[in-house]
Amino acid sequence: MKIKDLEFKKFIPADKIEKRIASLAKQINKDYADRTPLFLPVLNGSFMFTSDLLKDIELLCRVSFVKISSYAGTNSTGQFKTLIGHDESLFGLDILIVEDIVDTGLTLQKIMEDLKDRGAKSVEAIALFRKKDAREKSIEVKYVGFELEDEFILGYGLDYDGLGRNYRDVYKTLTSTQ
Ligand code: IMP
Repeated sequence: MKIKDLEFKKFIPADKIEKRIASLAKQINKDYADRTPLFLPVLNGSFMFTSDLLKDIELLCRVSFVKISSYAGTNSTGQFKTLIGHDESLFGLDILIVEDIVDTGLTLQKIMEDLKDRGAKSVEAIALFRKKDAREKSIEVKYVGFELEDEFILGYGLDYDGLGRNYRDVYKTLTSTQ
């Protein structure tokens, strides 16, 4: 499959993603059994993941979306701005940030710091994918769906220059993006 200048091939099929999400949800149901967490998905990339994950969450919980812009093309810029923030009080809440993918970890670090400053009781993260860079920097992600190397992926909510979010399977580039 070709999108703009890049060739992609199928990498993780939808049924494998579905099974992995069910097992992450099971673990969260267990860990948060006595709490009422606030799920804070980061748009746009996490919309599909969030929808499937929350269908398997059996807890009494809240959901509120935030939107951050940090990426252009296939390289993380490290620069972002909050487009939509969570404006209600976070005091005393157990927050679970829902990310599609953690690459450099800069986005997640920034959000976590911000939420802690605003009085959240606990702040943890769940990411469907985590890349090598974040792993090496020990960016704290309590729940990770799939560990990746340095590949650029798309599908299941993730995009390349705004395209490809709608695919149910995940694809990766054939060509290097570095
Ligand atoms: P970070 O701040 O470098 O961790 O970047 C996180 C954000 O970059 C993610 O939420 C995605 O929107 C985007 N991103 C990082 N890697 C990829 C990728 O392989 N495909 C699509 N988007 C990505």
